[in-house]
Amino acid sequence: RKQLFKLSTGSKALDKLLGGGVEAMSITEVFGEFRCGKTQLSHTLCVTAQMPGPNGYIGGKVIFIDTEHTFRPNRLKSIAERYNLNENAVLDNILYARAYNSEHQSELLNIVGCKLHEEAGVFKLLIIDSIMALFRVDYSGRGEIFDRQHKLGQMMSRLQKISEEYNIAVFITNQIASDFKSPELATRPIGGNILAHASTTRIALTKGEGAIRTAKLLDSPDLEEAEVHFLITSGGIDD
Ligand code: GTP
Ligand code: MG
Repeated sequence: RKQLFKLSTGSKALDKLLGGGVEAMSITEVFGEFRCGKTQLSHTLCVTAQMPGPNGYIGGKVIFIDTEHTFRPNRLKSIAERYNLNENAVLDNILYARAYNSEHQSELLNIVGCKLHEEAGVFKLLIIDSIMALFRVDYSGRGEIFDRQHKLGQMMSRLQKISEEYNIAVFITNQIASDFKSPELATRPIGGNILAHASTTRIALTKGEGAIRTAKLLDSPDLEEAEVHFLITSGGIDD
């Protein structure tokens, strides 16, 4: 069986939790409340994906689909600095696209498919931050949930196919339910069963004191359900 590459999250503890890092040919989802570090983790991966890693991984380019307008080139500069990389080179290796609605988000995946086909082997990571934000807005009506889940399912199988066909890691962020009174339900990721089944690896993030964050691995097929702590620093995600 082909050796899959794994991308470092920037935190050794989190990498260990993930069995080495964010894995190629599958979908990794992080979810959690606001400011828990989803976007910071996305930014860190943009940089680490460009660096050589274990098992002969040579690094590659990144595609970033931004649905919340929270992509920050300046953050990438300070993360690049931490790893002694040239900040402009790091930025040049990121193909950035802003999605304006869920339809557009899915159209962008068509373009991504073409790009991956044209430049075979060049891209190693596809990020969508966040997967549900636009669906949530576009299908906000009570009767629209069925349509939403149908479209979401199509998008997720598309992502799975892309990850396998082009040997890339797909990393998506997700929000938690905020419209529930019960505290237990309020820690659940949105997207229902469709998203739960489509994500190979799911990580729940929670806030600790200051820069401390906790990551917990959920229903992984082959890894232990454990939790670790990490930090958000100016150099990105760290221990
Ligand atoms: P939402 O998208 O709002 O749901 O949140 P998120 O989970 O994407 O949170 P995000 O990744 O944006 O994390 C925000 C946290 O990162 C905040 O606590 C910030 O203080 C911290 N942060 C952002 N930039 C920096 C930085 O340059 N240095 C440090 N040390 N922390 C930062
Ligand atoms: Mg964010």
